[in-house]
Amino acid sequence: MSTESPWDLIGSRATPLSSEDRSRIRLEQWLPETIRTTLKPFSHVLVIACGNGGGACQLAGAGHRVTALDRSRVQLQRTAELAKTMGFDVDRVLAPASSLPFASICFDAVLIENGVLSFLESRPEVFQEIARVLRPGGRFVLHDWHPVLPAFDPDGDVSYGGPSQERRLSLQNPLFPEVSPQSVTYLESAPSLTQLFQELLSTGLRLVDFNEFPEGEGPYQHPGFPGSMMMTWGSPPL
Ligand SMILES: C[S@@+](CC[C@H](N)C(=O)[O-])C[C@H]1O[C@@H](n2cnc3c(N)ncnc32)[C@H](O)[C@@H]1O
Repeated sequence: MSTESPWDLIGSRATPLSSEDRSRIRLEQWLPETIRTTLKPFSHVLVIACGNGGGACQLAGAGHRVTALDRSRVQLQRTAELAKTMGFDVDRVLAPASSLPFASICFDAVLIENGVLSFLESRPEVFQEIARVLRPGGRFVLHDWHPVLPAFDPDGDVSYGGPSQERRLSLQNPLFPEVSPQSVTYLESAPSLTQLFQELLSTGLRLVDFNEFPEGEGPYQHPGFPGSMMMTWGSPPL
C-alpha cells in the first residue's frame, strides 16, 4: 500500500497492536464501560478515528455492527488485518471526521477514544457531524486524554511521550502536519474542558455522564499522560 498523505505517514508511525493487546481485546477490557453497558445488542456503532482498530474490534466482538472510520489508509488497513485475525466483521470508511459520508440519523452510538481529540483540526464540525448521524436517544462516548496538561504549561510546547521531536503540543496552533522524508512532525491542539462542553452543547447533544481518571487509572494507562476523561453525550430524547 502506498503512503500518499501525511495521515498515512503519521499512521505508519503508530505501533501495531501486540499479542498482549489483542488478548485484552478478547477480554473486553478496552471497551469503555459506559458504552458497553449502554448499548443495546446489535447496535450500529461508528468508531471515529479508529486507528489500528482495537476499539472497533472490541465492539464487533461484543456483537455490534461496527463502522470504523479514519482518514489514514494505513490505519484502516491495520483495522482490517486485526478484524480478520480475530474473525470479526468491521466496515471501514476512509474519510475525515469533519465530513462524515453517512446519512443523518443512522447510528445508535459513536465512539471516539484514545488520543484523537488533539488531532482533530476542526473539532466543532466533527461534533456537529456526530450529532447529525446519531439516532434519537443515541450515545456519543468520548474517551480521551484529560485536557489538563495546558494548565501546567499554558504558554505552549510541551514534549510528552515518544520522541520529543515527533510529538509536540501547542495551545496556539491547530493541527498542522509537516512531513519530511526523515520525520513526521505535527502540532496537536489542546482544547480546554470549557471549550469541549460549549462545542458539544451547541450541537444539541446533552451530557449524560462525565468521569475523570488520574494517571494510572481508567481504561488507558499510558505512562506520562496526565490521566484521561470519559464523556457520554445523548441525542434527544435521552
Ligand atoms: C492516536 S490514534 C488513535 C486511534 C484509535 N482510536 C485507538 O484507540 O487506537 C489517532 C487516529 O486519529 C486519526 N485521525 C486524526 N484526525 C482525524 C480526522 N480528522 N478524521 C478521521 N481520522 C482522524 C488518525 O489517522 C489516527 O489513526
